[in-house]
Amino acid sequence: MKEHTSKQTQRYHITTFGCQMNKADSERMAGILEEMGFEWSEDPNQANLILYNTCTIRDNAEQKVYSYLGRQAKRKQTEPNLTLIVAGCVAQQEGEQLLRRVPELDLVMGPQHANQLENLLEQVFAGNQVVATEAIEILEDITKPRRESQVTAWVNVIYGCNERCTYCVVPNVRGVEQSRTPEAIRKEMETLGQQGYKEITLLGQNIDAYGRDLPGTTSTGRHLHTFTDLLHYVHDVQGIERIRFATSHPRYFTERLIRACQELPKVCKHFHIPFQSGDNQILKAMARGYTREKYRGIIEKIREYMPDAAISADVIVGFPGETEAQFEKTLELVEEISFDLVNTAAYSPRPGTPAALLSEQLSETVKSDRLQRLNHLVSIKATERRDRYLGRIEEVLVEEKNSKNPHQVMGRTQGNSLTFFDGEIEQLRGKLVKVKITETRAFSLTGVMVE
Ligand code: SAH
Ligand code: SF4
Ligand code: F3S
Repeated sequence: MKEHTSKQTQRYHITTFGCQMNKADSERMAGILEEMGFEWSEDPNQANLILYNTCTIRDNAEQKVYSYLGRQAKRKQTEPNLTLIVAGCVAQQEGEQLLRRVPELDLVMGPQHANQLENLLEQVFAGNQVVATEAIEILEDITKPRRESQVTAWVNVIYGCNERCTYCVVPNVRGVEQSRTPEAIRKEMETLGQQGYKEITLLGQNIDAYGRDLPGTTSTGRHLHTFTDLLHYVHDVQGIERIRFATSHPRYFTERLIRACQELPKVCKHFHIPFQSGDNQILKAMARGYTREKYRGIIEKIREYMPDAAISADVIVGFPGETEAQFEKTLELVEEISFDLVNTAAYSPRPGTPAALLSEQLSETVKSDRLQRLNHLVSIKATERRDRYLGRIEEVLVEEKNSKNPHQVMGRTQGNSLTFFDGEIEQLRGKLVKVKITETRAFSLTGVMVE
């Protein structure tokens, strides 16, 4: 049995891999641990509870976890009171097998169990090795998350994903869609507003699916609680000055949502809408449910309403069977649309996904060559896009010190461009300030405060 009750302070460390979803889960799990009396340790080697919140979106993300884990498993051989936890998407994917691979583990817990950490740890401290990966209804947030930032915060609106993109492991590891109620979301935002938070990012793997699983329809048969309705419902929360959201799915993106974003002043004019490929045949093989033309139409519509809106996306190169000509269609789309930012990735076959079974897997050489060519274009286009800010006055929400220059602070424009300028963080943190942009780079800006 572990001596959890000993007088010595219990210190915990969490390393988080993966997306915003995982980061939000880690903040909630940290909140639970602190309520249990644990204290944060920056150094994992000083902690007696280590939690890896893991990602399995691509193979390299998964392998990183094993190398981190290996080191701590070794440490446990001489420090038996160390508690080792694997949470998140690798935990869900591997389940029991993880215990066989790393027998030193105390707890393997899928993402749906994040809010149950205290119960699970009680079982661990009673001497059990625990695996919690069964599908459950996600508990409404009961704890106070330990948030990284004092200015910006994530708020989950929908968990899981019901899509079946053929390359993607997320539906397997995050389960079916579960929307939180509008009341619970608003309440969390109100608390954040009272605590001084200024910016909220509403989170969902497919945020346009919000509300489909909640009861109620309108007289025309539309769901009563769509994401657009949610934006209207939470828009006036006191203290919150900016609202962002991610991720949008082109298949479900509506003009009604575009209109709401234009009308509601707190909603940032920034859209993250992955397109994944510029080729219709590949899109079909990915089961994305839209064409390149439909995607372009959405972007045109957004720009019709909000000409200056920032647009970002995700894209995959080297999907099985992708020809050079099909890849060039992706380059073409990036060229045509001029994104502010594109997250790029080489296709990685994932266990339990249909695309992994396709016979025409491309070589790593072809994939990395395409990735490099795409990244080169993305950065040229991003530089061109960022140039439009030169000489403009932008409103920047100050978040932190510039970690590379103590005389500067960093914040974001409402289009989500990282911006640096001279200033004192203690005076400026959480403030919206006017900044004249004096220098632009592919992915960031520099300016001077003009207020
Ligand atoms: N829900 C979001 C994205 C989830 S995963 C959406 O629908 O777009 C984040 C990104 O990882 C995806 O947009 C995709 O570009 C990338 N990705 C997902 N599976 C991948 C795989 N098997 N190989 C490479 N990239 C992948
Ligand atoms: Fe994955 Fe597709 Fe769901 Fe996004 S929408 S999480 S890419 S299955
Ligand atoms: Fe990774 Fe899981 Fe997010 S696989 S990208 S951490 S949903």
